[in-house]
Amino acid sequence: MIGFIGLGIMGSRMAGNLLAKGHELTVYNRTKQKAEDVLARGAQWGETPKETAKHSDVLITMLTNPQAVESMALGEDGFLKHLPKGSIWVDCSTVNPTFSRHMAEEASMHDIRFLDAPVAGSLIPAERGELVFHVGGNEEALVEVRPYLEAMGKAIHHQGGHGSGTSMKLVVNLMLAQSMAVFAEAVSFGEALGLEKEAILETLIGGPTTGAFLAGKKKKLLTNEYTVEFPLEHIQKDLNLVTGEAYQNHSSLPIANLTKEIYSLANQYGLGKEDFSAIYEFLRPPQK
Ligand SMILES: NC(=O)c1ccc[n+]([C@@H]2O[C@H](COP(=O)([O-])OP(=O)(O)OC[C@H]3O[C@@H](n4cnc5c(N)ncnc54)[C@H](OP(=O)(O)O)[C@@H]3O)[C@@H](O)[C@H]2O)c1
Repeated sequence: MIGFIGLGIMGSRMAGNLLAKGHELTVYNRTKQKAEDVLARGAQWGETPKETAKHSDVLITMLTNPQAVESMALGEDGFLKHLPKGSIWVDCSTVNPTFSRHMAEEASMHDIRFLDAPVAGSLIPAERGELVFHVGGNEEALVEVRPYLEAMGKAIHHQGGHGSGTSMKLVVNLMLAQSMAVFAEAVSFGEALGLEKEAILETLIGGPTTGAFLAGKKKKLLTNEYTVEFPLEHIQKDLNLVTGEAYQNHSSLPIANLTKEIYSLANQYGLGKEDFSAIYEFLRPPQK
C-alpha cells in the first residue's frame, strides 16, 4: 500500500497516475475537498497523516515547503512514528538539502528509510506522468520505489546521498526563476522600444538564449492571463531556500538575491497565487 500526502497542483496529478497504473493508495490532504477526484478514482482516505501511515510500505509527500513537511511528519498526528519499520518515505516536495538531511536522520531514528526525490516539470508533465525525479539517498531504497516513480515520471536521476536530490532541484530552480524573470524583462524592454509583443515572443522563443520551458509561457504573456501551473509564491519560496543554503555553504549569489526580491515584491503586490510567469505583469510597461 502507498500513502500519499499533499494533493495540490502536483500531488493530485501524481497520485492520479499511481492509481492509473493500478497501485493502491491511501491519501491525505489538509483540505479534504482537494482529494475528491482521487477518492472518486479509488483511493482510500486517511483521516490523519498518522492513519495514512499505518498500512503504508511507501509514503510519498508532495507539500509546499519545509514547514509543511515537518508538520505532517513530526507534528501532532504526524506520520513518521506510525510508518511500519523498514518502510520508505519519499519526499517529493521542493525543500532545501539541509532540511532533507535532517528528515533522513529523523526517519532513521524510527527505522524508516528516507529518499529526497523532488521533481522537475510542472502541471502538464505531472498530468502526463512525465516528471523528472532527482533522487538523494540509498540506492537499494530507490530500487524498491522505482516502479512508483516510473508511474509518475519519465526519468529518474540518482544524484547521491541524502540531500543531493534537493540540492540538484535547487540548482534547477535557480535557473528556472531567473530565466523567467529575464525573459519577462526582455519582452518588456522590446515593448518599450515599440516592438510588437508577439514578434518579440516569437523571436526569443526557439532562439539559442531562451529556455525551452518558456515556449509554454507565450500564451500567458500574450493574453496577460496567468492561469496557475507553478505559483509565483512557490518560486519565491525556492529562491529563499536557494539563498539560505548559499549562505550556509559560502556561495555568493548576487543575481539570485536580486531576483528573489523581485519575486518578493510581485508577491507583495498580490501576484503570489498566479503562475510565476506573472512576473511579466509586474515588470511590463504601464498600460496607456
Ligand atoms: N507546481 C509546479 O509547477 C511545481 C513543479 C515542481 C515542483 N513543485 C513543488 O512541489 C511542491 C507542491 O507544489 P504544488 O504546486 O503542488 O503546490 P500546491 O498546489 O500549493 O499544493 C501544496 C500542498 O501542500 C499542502 N500544504 C501546504 N501547507 C501545509 C501545511 N502547513 N500543512 C499541511 N499541508 C500543507 C497543501 O494543502 P492544502 O490543499 O490544504 O492547502 C497542498 O496539498 C512544492 O514544494 C513546489 O515547490 C511544484
